Amino acid sequence: MKPSIIVHGGAWSIPDDLVDGHVRGCESAADAGFKELLAGASAMDAVVEAVATMEDDATFDAGVGSVLNQSGKVELDAIVMDGGNLRSGAVAALQRIRNPVRVARAVMDCTQYSMLAGEGALEFASSKGFEKCAEEDLLVGRELEDYREFIRTGVLRTREHFSGKGDTVGACAVDVEGHVACATSTGGIPRKLAGRVGDSPLVGCGAYANDEVGAASATGWGEQIMAVVLSKTALDIRSGLQDSCAACRNAVEHLNKRVGGLGGLIMVDREGAVGYHHNTPRMAFAFIEGTTGRKAAAISV
Ligand code: GLY
Repeated sequence: MKPSIIVHGGAWSIPDDLVDGHVRGCESAADAGFKELLAGASAMDAVVEAVATMEDDATFDAGVGSVLNQSGKVELDAIVMDGGNLRSGAVAALQRIRNPVRVARAVMDCTQYSMLAGEGALEFASSKGFEKCAEEDLLVGRELEDYREFIRTGVLRTREHFSGKGDTVGACAVDVEGHVACATSTGGIPRKLAGRVGDSPLVGCGAYANDEVGAASATGWGEQIMAVVLSKTALDIRSGLQDSCAACRNAVEHLNKRVGGLGGLIMVDREGAVGYHHNTPRMAFAFIEGTTGRKAAAISV
């Protein structure tokens, strides 16, 4: 099987001055994941590498560069899912860790559980050797400014955020063995209540993978994505014989029709064909499709 990978860097309005950073960041992530796949690594290794690359890039609302909650803290959600055995690992409301996606992988690999949250997740991460960073290490000026404005005005602006901003990152891949995997990571929505957990770490919502169909990762307004279990819904549509692009489009249309939802989706199917769709003004993505040799890194409008 020729491997494929697709990544997204969030679905929102992405102002012109941030376009280059988003395209470059997605391209680097897809390249990092594809390098793993070409070396014979698993789809799981590839999606973790791709998402960790974006967590390290302050352009995105994941890892370094994440948004602040109403208490001025960064709380991170992430998930990985293996399409071969349907095992997943996730962390929710995790503080002071640079690469939550790697902790999510450790939850899957080293525990009998699917998700750890809050203090327990941090204790687990420390026990597995993940370094606890300072809160400030995750902060960037743009998000501090946003937090200061929230303190001044007390306004939440969740809808404007997704018409305007929603930088969750994700990756889906198929490896040389034909196994699929996905990973999603986010700082969530800015100005969220402390302890709020979005769609990203929830199986079927922020991500889903099944070797019988493919893998999907979502971005957008978490509460709406949860309502339609967006990633699993997209794969169910794909297994009803639609191609990956049509499946993503139909799933996002369903999101909008049923709950007025805003967001985006990426998918790779078990044949290695990639798809993406969004109903936000823009979405950053990159893919390398092994079977066709197609490759792109761009902002979809
Ligand atoms: N989709 C990211 C969130 O709502 O937290």
